[in-house]
Amino acid sequence: MQFTAWTFVGLCCLVAGTFAAQLAPIRPAAAAPRPAAPPSTLALELRSIFRQIPGKQIEKLVQAYLLNDEEFQAVIRDINSLQAYRLSRQLLVQPEVRQLLQWLSQQLILSGSSLKIFEDLELEIKVLNKYPHASQLVNGIRGFELDFYQIYPLELIRSLLEPSATQSSPALTELWRRLVAVLPAYERVIGSPQGKLFIQKLQARGVAVQDVDALIRYQFGWSNATLGGNNYPSYDYTDYLGQSSYY
Ligand SMILES: *[C@@H]1O[C@H](CO)[C@@H](O)[C@H](O)[C@H]1NC(C)=O
Repeated sequence: MQFTAWTFVGLCCLVAGTFAAQLAPIRPAAAAPRPAAPPSTLALELRSIFRQIPGKQIEKLVQAYLLNDEEFQAVIRDINSLQAYRLSRQLLVQPEVRQLLQWLSQQLILSGSSLKIFEDLELEIKVLNKYPHASQLVNGIRGFELDFYQIYPLELIRSLLEPSATQSSPALTELWRRLVAVLPAYERVIGSPQGKLFIQKLQARGVAVQDVDALIRYQFGWSNATLGGNNYPSYDYTDYLGQSSYY
């Protein structure tokens, strides 16, 4: 479930086709020429952020667990269940999410791309393992969580998205504002009866749901608290935990 941040972003891909199809004819061909807006650079900017995510490393980790770890396999089955699919549809139809995706799709089209750029984030897992010793390295859900948090650059990605002295792109700033606005939709869905049931299921599987939740909230600017320092080696979180805004 640690890919939830990805899953969320991946949701964009799910609807990419639909939205792209609906939004393609944005302007009638005969529209009067308008003063040209500055070209959007969102697609380029997002691509350069995606490049900071070590996709190959994450792929190798997921592959090792997917092929060798029963606890992890069970969670992956849950994530791919009809129940989880319905939950993701429920999230997609929330007004805040629809508005975000519609805006994102338009901006990406204006910058010469489409929601398909999120396909760059998809994992490609090979079925046959070239490294037989991988079976010795897996260590249940907890082991996966520890490894994943070491690899995934949570703070870096946020710092590239969030407006700051170094991030002053108008397109990214607007994207950030809209991502932050999705929080009520997220809370509505995880607080729904179906959402609660699914969370219980994951908890029963040993997933540290509160950590996944903290990761998602931190990544999208819904919270300024990163993962607790007690359960995880601090890595890049140390700097952040030093600040008074933690909890
Ligand atoms: C996180 O910190 C920033 C900067 O101090 C602030 O603008 C923002 O509102 C905070 N977000 C939350 C969810 O507390």
